[in-house]
Amino acid sequence: MKNRFIAGLACLSLAVTIAVPWAVNALASKQSIAANNKQSSLHPIASHVSVIAHRGASAYAPEHTLPAYKQAMQMKADYVEIDLQMTKDGHLIAMHDETLERTTNVEQIYPNRAPWQVKDFTLDEIRQLDAGSWFNKAYPDLAKKEYMGQHVPTLEEAITLVKQQGNGKVSLYMETKAPNIYPGMEEKLINILKRNYVIHDQNLIIESFSEESLRKFKSMAPNVKLIQLYTASMLKGKDVNQEFKRISNYAYGIGPSKELVVPKIMEAAHQNKLVVHPWTVNSQEDMAGLLSLGVDGEFTNAPDKLAGLLK
Ligand code: G3P
Ligand code: CA
Repeated sequence: MKNRFIAGLACLSLAVTIAVPWAVNALASKQSIAANNKQSSLHPIASHVSVIAHRGASAYAPEHTLPAYKQAMQMKADYVEIDLQMTKDGHLIAMHDETLERTTNVEQIYPNRAPWQVKDFTLDEIRQLDAGSWFNKAYPDLAKKEYMGQHVPTLEEAITLVKQQGNGKVSLYMETKAPNIYPGMEEKLINILKRNYVIHDQNLIIESFSEESLRKFKSMAPNVKLIQLYTASMLKGKDVNQEFKRISNYAYGIGPSKELVVPKIMEAAHQNKLVVHPWTVNSQEDMAGLLSLGVDGEFTNAPDKLAGLLK
């Protein structure tokens, strides 16, 4: 009995002896796999880290004007970002705000039309506005004569410019800014992209804070890359792994405000095959810090700075 007991102990200890290194190895390798995963999440998953010119090269020229888009392309941006609003007569124009007073002289031209909402003006009326002089007044050291009298571009003008001057190296990154106040905006945008033969550009990106707007795109143009934008409040209290798994059925990536980007967000996004494009990154320190976390692109008003870092 005693021998059998000792033999049993010997087998057990042998098993444990064999098992322990394996177990230790397994644990170690599991930890190292997890660590590698973490590490691998802190590298871009996109083949190229994108320079996204936020409202054009808006650090140097009046935002959402043709000179701002031209300078973005001269500064080797991969994308020109275009925020979209819709006029009373259904034209899509490049404009960040839902109202016209911050970036045009609408208060002088139409003093009695407050609150100067884009949706209350026709394209012809908006074409009377100067969308560049405000910049010269706000940034006298960056002022240029050519900015005076710049008009608000239509989306189609912006597309034509990028096609003509982008040498096939610059793509469009368009945001449906307030789709809830512009019924039919998504359909209109898709028709314009088709009419201008850019809908099949593999690099074309549509972005929005509105999941509903993006899902509408997904249903109408399933091959277009979609970026779900996030503010901090949109992610507050959410399990990011679950959230990103959920949106990965329509989104190509996420556009988080830059302060949200920490390893946990990078891991959750990359593990769900979502690219990460933080906004808006203007200091070289922030640019480098985010690149070290493995972001796949950055929105910046200064595309030359980011392009220079990436060189
Ligand atoms: O579209 C990304 C980023 O531009 C979102 O913020 O307000 O600059 O359009 P906003
Ligand atoms: Ca935007």
